[in-house]
Amino acid sequence: MERTYIMIKPDGIARGLMGDILSRIERKGLKIVGMKFAVMEEAKAKEHYAEHAERPFFAGLVDFITSAPSLSLVVEGKDAVKIMRSVNGATKPAEAAPGTIRGDFAMDTGRNVVHASDSLESAEREIKIHFGNAALLSYKRCDDDYLYE
Ligand code: RTP
Ligand code: MG
Repeated sequence: MERTYIMIKPDGIARGLMGDILSRIERKGLKIVGMKFAVMEEAKAKEHYAEHAERPFFAGLVDFITSAPSLSLVVEGKDAVKIMRSVNGATKPAEAAPGTIRGDFAMDTGRNVVHASDSLESAEREIKIHFGNAALLSYKRCDDDYLYE
């Protein structure tokens, strides 16, 4: 089983897309094993996007990510890293296929609604940044237990 770090960025929250995005993740079959709804601290945003520190869009990106609440998730499942990249769609909304989150909801690269770790190593690094030592959930799906006493 893999774990990956997902963020619904401030634009996704502000536009009321949180429920739809969580629903897509759940319906795909992935499990949400960690969830944190907060305004990201600047230091965490800078560490998260450290690979882009020299890029011209870095300051604006950090400003935007820390400007309002975002939802951080740890998502678990077989091939979770690759699957969540495909659920999110291409970074540039003009290249994102319909049916993906960015293909359906985004117009601009700087407002592309969601983030997903791009490799297993990035996932481990990002989960550590955002969840530290917080316990992540471990559960088995037993659907009947939630329908009937
Ligand atoms: P993310 O990290 O957010 O999942 O996106 P990604 O892997 O698909 O794209 P990445 O290359 O890691 O870029 C990180 C985020 O920076 C913003 N960006 N803006 N203005 C620009 O040219 C530009 N390029 C990237 C995007 O919000 C992108 O998601
Ligand atoms: Mg990235």
